[in-house]
Amino acid sequence: MTDSLADRFRGRFKAAPTHLSRAPGRVNLIGEHTDYNGLPVFPMALQREVRIELRPRRDGRVTLLNQDAEFAPVDFEVGVAIPPGPTGHWGNYVKAPAQELARRYAIVRGFDGVLGSDVPVASGLSSSSALVNAVGLALAEINELGLDPLELGDVMADAERYTGTRGGGMDQAISMAARAGHAARIDFHPLRLHYVPVPSDWRFVVADTGVRAEKSGPAQAAYNRRRSECEEAFKLVAPELVCAGLTKRAPAGYAEMLKSVPDDEVMVVAEKVLTGTLFKRFRHVVSENARVVEAQDLLHQADHAGFGTLMDGSHGSLRADYNVSSAELDELVAFAKEGGASGARLTGAGFGGCIVALADTNTVDDVLETLVTGYYEPRNLTDRLDRRVFLAVPSQGASFGAL
Ligand code: GLA
Repeated sequence: MTDSLADRFRGRFKAAPTHLSRAPGRVNLIGEHTDYNGLPVFPMALQREVRIELRPRRDGRVTLLNQDAEFAPVDFEVGVAIPPGPTGHWGNYVKAPAQELARRYAIVRGFDGVLGSDVPVASGLSSSSALVNAVGLALAEINELGLDPLELGDVMADAERYTGTRGGGMDQAISMAARAGHAARIDFHPLRLHYVPVPSDWRFVVADTGVRAEKSGPAQAAYNRRRSECEEAFKLVAPELVCAGLTKRAPAGYAEMLKSVPDDEVMVVAEKVLTGTLFKRFRHVVSENARVVEAQDLLHQADHAGFGTLMDGSHGSLRADYNVSSAELDELVAFAKEGGASGARLTGAGFGGCIVALADTNTVDDVLETLVTGYYEPRNLTDRLDRRVFLAVPSQGASFGAL
């Protein structure tokens, strides 16, 4: 049996931990690869989370042990230029919030802590942002910065770029500010969340391909490249909207463009100026944005079938236009549908990781069964099945408090 966090803490620091900082992972229901284009997303926080039991220090050091022996302890001095470890090292996700907070505020106190997590790693469920948030929240509270969850979520989105991924702000925002029982439509610049209750008979099934999507490995370059392609496509389309008489001046970004010009008219212009990959990337961003807007209404109306159809559309677009799916993700999606899911799609950045499927109280058992017999059993992936396939419970965002 693994020691509790408190036991590990006492063993190492010869005292009891005094505080708990926790931050959940998330599953994104719809709106993939839109956040870094300034467009909305629609995730909810998971019941799986990063937990740190800790004791504030008088000095500015952070020493953090990981309950998972695969990850060696990290130990550093908080400051404005913390030397990073090798790319992909988990310690970089601990240093990231520390450096960003130190650049903006007076951080004089660090902490000793022990961390445990049940968010599957590199699976598209934001284990890394949960870690960044749990550390960031601990430092913000210990140093009495007085930031609200949205402010801190915004800072954490900038912080994570320390690790080399040019991510958007979805993961940090939902992990920091989610509301139990709700999904949230998140808009950016400025960051705002609109909470929508998840109907009590809806069931979101999360299923992991078992293929790791290391954001710090090759997936990082592929992810960053997608972002650059979107920027490039936008730069080509924006001035042409003026030439076509659709706007007076070139819009500053995707959000402004799609607010002022109908999607079909934007796409007519895009077809003239974009070709190949850039056109496909652009089409995904525009169509995915429309799906997010519609998804919010459909969740409000508890339109299960309609919401599922949007999820299917999202997956198709991510596969064909954005090229971030994989054979395993497509297979899981197909099995979920075969089992009776109303919709299914890859969730997170893609390149491996998880799918999310929409079932209800009547169909959920068949969906689970079909996933297990169709995907996991033939691959012998039946050990710790509860880690690979589970129901997502819309959960509360990060919190910090005395133990
Ligand atoms: C990762 C990033 C997010 C978002 C998704 C794709 O999870 O951290 O900001 O871009 O990929 O939607």
